[in-house]
Amino acid sequence: MYVCHTIAEIREYVRQAGERGLVIGLVPTMGYLHEGHLELMRRAKDQCGVVVVSIFVNPLQFGPREDYAEYPRDLERDVRLAGGAGADVIFNPAAEEMYPEGYCTYVDLGDLTDKLCGRSRPGHFRGVATVVAKLFNIVRPDYAYFGQKDAQQVLVIRQMAADLDMDLEIVTVPTVREPDGLAMSSRNVYLSPAERQAATVLFHSLEMAGREVAAGERDAAKLHRMVMEMIKSEPLAEIDYVEIYGYPGLAPVAVLDGAALLAVAVKFGRTRLIDNTLLEV
Ligand code: PAJ
Repeated sequence: MYVCHTIAEIREYVRQAGERGLVIGLVPTMGYLHEGHLELMRRAKDQCGVVVVSIFVNPLQFGPREDYAEYPRDLERDVRLAGGAGADVIFNPAAEEMYPEGYCTYVDLGDLTDKLCGRSRPGHFRGVATVVAKLFNIVRPDYAYFGQKDAQQVLVIRQMAADLDMDLEIVTVPTVREPDGLAMSSRNVYLSPAERQAATVLFHSLEMAGREVAAGERDAAKLHRMVMEMIKSEPLAEIDYVEIYGYPGLAPVAVLDGAALLAVAVKFGRTRLIDNTLLEV
């Protein structure tokens, strides 16, 4: 597996692949890979002649009191796992390579980022959009792959790509879960055994809401209350937000009459987990 650390190296690799007429796929990640990431790579491999995986813990998307320094990292393991899932090349730049001294250009989105994780994590989506724009410009992929686990992130990336006329297709991959329903996340390793057990309440609450909607419930406030109550019944859970918005526009919704996004962010000890489901009527 070829691991590039500089923009010049990955550019050259991709240029040569392009010359050979290969379709380029990009899977942006922050590493510490799990089955969710690997599923994105497998999807990319199905569609593309070359799969580029970026592994970069992007300092710009972490708040000052967040876990940038502790974020788990294991490049050797990641390279092995990515290779097994179809990656052809890894792009693993240093922070100074992406943001050299004097760096001062950022991608800001409007309304889409003032709710959900954008409200809880000011500046987060500015960091995400900026790094993803840079990765798109460096790799110039035909396809880029993102997980529905981060539902708002996908909407942000799609909006950015449309607004800035980025010439690629964004592919969304469904959330990959542990056997007990917990959405896979690099941050799951922070959980104590008791917190890990408690965290299954997230999936259970999403499933419960889905069942209520299937049984005819359309009142968003009522669904919201039921989800809140279920999560609150778990003593180790501390709710950051539970929200229901129209999907994909993220407009407020009182009565469900189309697709809606039910998204939750909950802390277990120091670990903040997110999850979501689409409620379809
Ligand atoms: P990271 O959290 O490493 O996730 C990389 C990609 O994997 C994202 O598209 C995310 O949605 C997807 N993913 C994570 N867990 C998943 C799961 N359980 N099932 C399916 N897909 C999953 O998201 C980021 O990194 C960063 O914000 C990034 C886009 C790389 C920009 O820095």
